[in-house]
Amino acid sequence: MSADHDTPIKTPKQLITVIVLSFIVPILIIVLLVKYVGASKRTGAGTQSMSADSIEARIKPVAGFELIDASAPRALKSGEQVYTAQCAACHAAGVAGSPKTGDAAAWKPRLDTGLEALVTAALKGKGAMPAQGGGAASDFEILRAVVHMANASGGSLTEPEPPAAK
Ligand code: HEC
Repeated sequence: MSADHDTPIKTPKQLITVIVLSFIVPILIIVLLVKYVGASKRTGAGTQSMSADSIEARIKPVAGFELIDASAPRALKSGEQVYTAQCAACHAAGVAGSPKTGDAAAWKPRLDTGLEALVTAALKGKGAMPAQGGGAASDFEILRAVVHMANASGGSLTEPEPPAAK
């Protein structure tokens, strides 16, 4: 009777192989499925919350401060920086009768008075212009701003060497 059963498993060795495979194959499939699900890129709110950047942003101190050595030599701002911060407010558009930056005709007679006179006017104030243009830059930074503005308005002034740091 038993010889009538038709099965591909003929020897004990084949039987062991089939039993072992029947354990390993499903486990392999599960491992691959888990990998596949885990590897897909997640997007949306909160999915980046464990990234190094967002952790850094979460744990950084609330009040940031920078320690400044008061006696360290101060880096001089460039003429353009001072101009943008303090002078452009009026001079970019020619507010309050100020000579507009780039308006060579308005600057010509002023340029003729020389750099010294222009810097003095910028430092002490003139007409509607407050002293120092209303800001707090060093005298040399104001000079740089004047040179920057004048040269953008048809002048060809050369900037002197910065004063040696004290
Ligand atoms: C509140 C507006 C205002 C700001 C800010 C301002 N200026 Fe002026 N500036 C004027 C006016 C108005 C004049 C024309 C003064 C006059 O001739 O009566 C002028 C004139 C000047 C002149 C020509 C002076 C002369 O002798 O003819 C220079 C140079 C100058 N400004 C430089 C600067 C610089 C550099 C800054 C930035 C640090 C600055 N200004 C910021 C309003 C301003």
